Amino acid sequence: MLKQSRNNKSENIIEVKNARKIYRMGKEKIVAVDDVSFNVKRGEFLCLYGASGSGKSTLLNLMAGIEKLTAGQIMIKGHNIQRMSERGLAKFRQNTLGFVFQSYNLLNSMTALENVELPLVFKHMNRKKRRRLARQMLINVGLGDRLKHKPTEMSGGQQQRVGIARAFVSNPEIVFADEPTGNLDSKTSREVMDLIKGMAKANHQTIVMVTHDKDLAMYADRIIHIRDGRIEKIVDQLAGNTAETAETAEAGGPEENTGQTEQGLEALPAHNPG
Ligand SMILES: Nc1ncnc2c1ncn2[C@@H]1O[C@H](COP(=O)(O)OP(=O)(O)OP(=O)(O)O)[C@@H](O)[C@H]1O
Ligand SMILES: [Mg+2]
Repeated sequence: MLKQSRNNKSENIIEVKNARKIYRMGKEKIVAVDDVSFNVKRGEFLCLYGASGSGKSTLLNLMAGIEKLTAGQIMIKGHNIQRMSERGLAKFRQNTLGFVFQSYNLLNSMTALENVELPLVFKHMNRKKRRRLARQMLINVGLGDRLKHKPTEMSGGQQQRVGIARAFVSNPEIVFADEPTGNLDSKTSREVMDLIKGMAKANHQTIVMVTHDKDLAMYADRIIHIRDGRIEKIVDQLAGNTAETAETAEAGGPEENTGQTEQGLEALPAHNPG
């Protein structure tokens, strides 16, 4: 596998081309993702934003190889993930991807340290080294004094910080996060977002995050607005990048790109919880 520099910012680390996902429920067809195309640059913090049921999680799961496409193509680092074998994909995910979940997905029988070590166990790292890395990662997220605590002995915010430490401990090139602060209050949410963004930017990691919360979407470099499985528009939060217009047009969405954060977010679809 070609090793490319993490500093190569112009590289499209993820390419989504005409992605489509249809769920069949008996006679009913649900088009969860409807002909979506966009790219993600290395080191970018991208947000998939939209109302409940708009298809954000489905799209994220397609990108992470958790769900299979009905049509289209998704390339990560030039590899067509749909064409990988189960084993190849598992290995690729281990080496390249990290995940942060809304519900933390920690193992309750294990301590914070053991939870963070787990991805390194799967990578067959020796015990001493993985223990050292996991401990350092927990210190980085401010939990140096909770190493021996089990998930049930920690607050929600602390549990999610363990979840973040676990996602980042193997130094993945891409981190996927689905509503990572969905179970947290707004102050803790901001702390968790600062942590994710700070770690990713420091290590030139790429983040793809799903949220329905416009305040959290603001953390991203670029916001892809999803409505009914389609791209409604793409708002570039970093000033003056005109490339996005072409991408939006390609994806069949409106060509408008306000380039202005507040204005862009004013036009968001109303959040429809549940
Ligand atoms: N496994 C499945 N089988 C059938 N339909 C599904 C399945 N998963 C999702 N859907 C449908 O696909 C659509 C998109 O769902 P998805 O979970 O991607 O939405 P979302 O934007 O993540 O919503 P939320 O913000 O509530 O998490 C919804 O209409 C949902 O009912
Ligand atoms: Mg979802």
